[in-house]
Amino acid sequence: MRTALRLMDNGLRSSLPAGWNHEGIFEKVRQWEASQEAGYRRLITKGSDCYTDFSELRALAQKKIAMGLNTMLLLGTGGSSLGAEALIHGLHRPRKSPRFEFADNNDPDWFHLLLSSLDPKQTLVYVVSKSGKTPETISQLLVTKAWLEKALPNSWQEHFVFCSDPKTGDLRELARRCSIPCLTIPSPVGGRYSVLTAAGLFPAAFAGLQLETFISGAHSLLAWEEEKEANPCYRLALQLVSLRQSHPITVMMPYSSQLASFSRWFCQLWAESLGKQGMGLTPYPALGTTDQHSQLQLYAEGPRDKVIGFIDLKKWDQDLPLPNWNEAANLASVRELGDVSMLDLFQAEARGTKAALAQLGVPHFTIEMDCLDEFSLGALFYFWEWTTSFAGACLGVNPFDQPGVERSKELTKTFLRERRK
Ligand code: PA5
Repeated sequence: MRTALRLMDNGLRSSLPAGWNHEGIFEKVRQWEASQEAGYRRLITKGSDCYTDFSELRALAQKKIAMGLNTMLLLGTGGSSLGAEALIHGLHRPRKSPRFEFADNNDPDWFHLLLSSLDPKQTLVYVVSKSGKTPETISQLLVTKAWLEKALPNSWQEHFVFCSDPKTGDLRELARRCSIPCLTIPSPVGGRYSVLTAAGLFPAAFAGLQLETFISGAHSLLAWEEEKEANPCYRLALQLVSLRQSHPITVMMPYSSQLASFSRWFCQLWAESLGKQGMGLTPYPALGTTDQHSQLQLYAEGPRDKVIGFIDLKKWDQDLPLPNWNEAANLASVRELGDVSMLDLFQAEARGTKAALAQLGVPHFTIEMDCLDEFSLGALFYFWEWTTSFAGACLGVNPFDQPGVERSKELTKTFLRERRK
């Protein structure tokens, strides 16, 4: 069986939280995974209550493509958007058809501009909300329905697909009333763990990606279970939690531009899952080489409060040799690049950054992926979901709820009521 990724040796020390033993932490994670709140593992287990019907997703995507739809506008927020965005930006070639747009910030100016840039006749609107009631998403849905109906009074329904909890929520009820297909995020899978459900996999089907291969990549990591305490997900979780007092910030710094959105997905997973009861680790997104010219100074000489996480690819598609230019040949900056490719430079920069941080004693770790494909990306998503569960268990918090966002939701409702008066 292929291993899609590796956690490289990082020399970070770890210690068990007081009062815990390894088996106790594994048991806690096993209990969550079998429960009604943490079905992310059952998504990759054939025959389980959460396993996705891939043929349904593919058939629906093909039907919409056959209608001439070449753009997907995803309405959703938080986990209902970030996973799909990370997956599509990770594997779908930018500027190739179909076009994808993600409306995860509810800014009316931007949303208006976005709709004005789309042709309703060619647009499939994919509305994703696990709860089926998130006001940002519902407000976008109302605006978009009017926009579609104006252009397509008799067929606007055909331009919608919804995705929600299998039983509950207004979105599912609306789908029933208007005969709109509604895909499923299984009840035991929360938003930020939903990328390997229809939430992320229907956009993948629309892009023509191999759905089952994401799942096989994720599933391949389960072989690590036999490694017990040496399971890389557990090892990394324990290391990061052990360092939390001195180094509470986790920077996620892939070098592939196509993984920039992955960092944002990671940040939500890490922040919303672990930040509670005064605990948590603060995630921060970065991108090499861009942030070598922006953040690296801070990582190297600023406060020693960060662990830097790199994601490297072993295989890149393009080497891009650097062609000769006679008039430039004797300039120092060009001579330095003699006989190397753009990839040589890129990889030397990643190595240079890590070596410099090592010399300065800045803690860091590297996840090495074979390449960027469905198998390894599926594994990368699962790697962090599993690591987050272990980190939650080590911190003593439940990584599957988000009670802290309720207050702001209640206050928003109060202010809306005031506005109506
Ligand atoms: O991870 C979570 O549960 C949240 O970030 C949700 O994804 C987000 O609040 C959107 O919720 P919903 O999918 O119910 O619209």
